[in-house]
Amino acid sequence: MKTLRLGIIGGGLMGREMASAIGRWCALTDVGVRVELAAVCDLTEKTREWFRQIPTVRQITADSRELLANAELDAVYVAVPHHLHEALYLDVLRAGKDLLAEKPFGIDLAAARKIRDVARETRRFVRCSSELPFLPGVQRALRVIGEGKLGHLLEIRSGFWHASDLDPTKAINWKRQVKFCGAIGVMGDLGMHACHVPFRLGWRPARVYAQLQKITHERPDGKGGMAACDTWDNAMLHCDVEIPEHPNDTVPMRLETKRLAPGEMNTWFIEVLGTDGGVRFSTKEPKTVWQFRRGKEQVWERYDVGMADSAFPVVTGGIFEAGFADCFQQMLAAFAAERAGSLGGRFGCATPDEAVLSHELFAAALVSHTEKRAVEI
Ligand SMILES: NC(=O)c1ccc[n+]([C@@H]2O[C@H](COP(=O)([O-])OP(=O)(O)OC[C@H]3O[C@@H](n4cnc5c(N)ncnc54)[C@H](O)[C@@H]3O)[C@@H](O)[C@H]2O)c1
Repeated sequence: MKTLRLGIIGGGLMGREMASAIGRWCALTDVGVRVELAAVCDLTEKTREWFRQIPTVRQITADSRELLANAELDAVYVAVPHHLHEALYLDVLRAGKDLLAEKPFGIDLAAARKIRDVARETRRFVRCSSELPFLPGVQRALRVIGEGKLGHLLEIRSGFWHASDLDPTKAINWKRQVKFCGAIGVMGDLGMHACHVPFRLGWRPARVYAQLQKITHERPDGKGGMAACDTWDNAMLHCDVEIPEHPNDTVPMRLETKRLAPGEMNTWFIEVLGTDGGVRFSTKEPKTVWQFRRGKEQVWERYDVGMADSAFPVVTGGIFEAGFADCFQQMLAAFAAERAGSLGGRFGCATPDEAVLSHELFAAALVSHTEKRAVEI
């Protein structure tokens, strides 16, 4: 079995999630690639300390240049604030390493295009993180859509909702400040998650009418004062989509990314409705896929899904339900398999072109909201 030696730059929330996904690689039975975490870089000593418990980690450093000079690394996962994406992603590519990038793949459209272009020039394998489509329920929904029995598409909805920002006493962090997170705000935080499945199915937005909301303008700074909170909280993107199979139909697609969604802790969902069938999945009901069937009677059928519906087989019982850690590991398996040329027909991680398209959509959404009109993409 081949081994992919991975380094991590940015050992915060997502860097540790990555380490944990690699730590139980034995759960996967048929990837054909073993991923080993060999090196970690983070600025803070406390974070670096956490990684010392992982026996395969041979290099721990505060300097990303040191990590990138490590000849044994094949690829690097970079999980840092958005204003650092462009510089660090380009450093990885120019050091001759492959890259598993975090969303939103640069702080803005110009950064995303630059990263995509340098990835092409350097011929490195680059993908962008978006793990939720790797949940078994979404894999099942994709199979239903792929069967092509939905008829003429009527409507597509995809979104990601959070609620913790409803609390005005929640302290500020970099994700709530334009200079670190980007002017696209919540779209940068949650948008790639909402775009990945529709874009992969070829559902590209032709134009967008955006409704953006900024409700919370300042938050506690954690030092007894208040700090400006200047990012968009909620974004509703109403798009026209031209469907490749039905070139004369323009289908409404609504992409929703919200930090102020009452009652929604971390809810990712997709719903696709057609004249003959439909499918609906939400992490709110993580082991349920709803399928619509139009016959003599109109029926929504409810199916339970378990780990057996995963893209990559696992030792976990087929009827056991999946969670965030599972889909994150499945995403890494897809990265490793695609890089090794063995993805087959399975769903793959978001590509640089898809990440750039998401930024084109978000940039158009900013114009749309300011000018109160639909904007072509
Ligand atoms: N895929 C997902 O579901 C998901 C979820 C949350 C965040 N993210 C994305 O992951 C990225 C990181 O988010 P997070 O929540 O892990 O952030 P975080 O703040 O928890 O962690 C970021 C880490 O980067 C380190 N860092 C900053 N500058 C660095 C540098 N120059 N060199 C090395 N380390 C450096 C910090 O010390 C910190 O430990 C962002 O792009 C974010 O959008 C993805």
